[in-house]
Amino acid sequence: MSTNNIQLDENGKLRHFLSIEGLDQTILTEILDTAESFTSVADRTIKKVPILRGKTVANLFFEASTRTRSTFELAEQRLSADILSLNVDTSATSKGESLLDTLQNLEAMQIDMFVIRHQDSGSAHFFAQHVRPGVSVLNAGDGQHEHPTQAMLDMYTIRHYKKDFTGLRVAIVGDIMHSRVARSQIHALNLMNTAEIRVIAPRTLLPVGVESLGVSVYDDLEQGLTDVDVVIMLRLQKERMRGALLPSEKEYFRQYGLSQERLQRAKPDAIVMHPGPANRGVEIESSVMDGKQSVILQQVSFGISVRMAVMSMIVGRQSGGEA
Ligand code: NCD
Repeated sequence: MSTNNIQLDENGKLRHFLSIEGLDQTILTEILDTAESFTSVADRTIKKVPILRGKTVANLFFEASTRTRSTFELAEQRLSADILSLNVDTSATSKGESLLDTLQNLEAMQIDMFVIRHQDSGSAHFFAQHVRPGVSVLNAGDGQHEHPTQAMLDMYTIRHYKKDFTGLRVAIVGDIMHSRVARSQIHALNLMNTAEIRVIAPRTLLPVGVESLGVSVYDDLEQGLTDVDVVIMLRLQKERMRGALLPSEKEYFRQYGLSQERLQRAKPDAIVMHPGPANRGVEIESSVMDGKQSVILQQVSFGISVRMAVMSMIVGRQSGGEA
């Protein structure tokens, strides 16, 4: 997609953060390193730095969210931004206003940065194409397309526990077809030169041509988990499924659920990840979710530093790079 370059300014710095596709390893590594420098902010008595002081950030969530929205808000607060959070579900667009009109009305309120989650793929790009110069857009999930800050917090988690990507085998298990998270993760893992990326799913939950994304495909969970370093579980995104793609949740768990027993196929020090929301007993056994290999809650904490990093890089660019 040519619109990807809209993310970067003429010096190759981040202006918007819309998709992992179109970025390179240097920017991804800069995000991870910057995020690392922010992790200590959470341990301070006063959890704030002044990087976004005087800036106004609007969080526009056209789709429900718990983790993403609250960690974006906390990241903005810790960067000292002024915040406007709208549940657009219950607001103007449900009264028939177009996306462009919503945007223009908000711009009239002098917003500096938009964080947008929307059910349509491409909506964040659309926003970025229409904002005024100097205004930035961050994609918090667009349809089935991408969820780039989620992928970056996942890369942060993997790097934190495993250090280097080049020797790693990573398995992504479940509903790949409907997952914007999986798409962003696959691009990011490839950019980080991950040794092997496996996707494990029933054929009905794999997008056509998934192999062309640089992954190996498994329809057998136990085979796919063998000797992996990282297991990423995904929820069945039933709200996006049209028609019956699965026999039943019980049958799905029987074939693709991550149990303690199956996890033993992976390396003994493998980590288990999940972007949330997780469904216990459907894609993951409760004891695995709460088990010692699970880093699911650490992912949530890292999400704050990663979102702080992306926003500070965007603002640092605007004000001469002092972020
Ligand atoms: C994901 C999303 O919304 O794309 N969740 C998240 O942001 N943490 C995955 C999902 O909904 O299953």
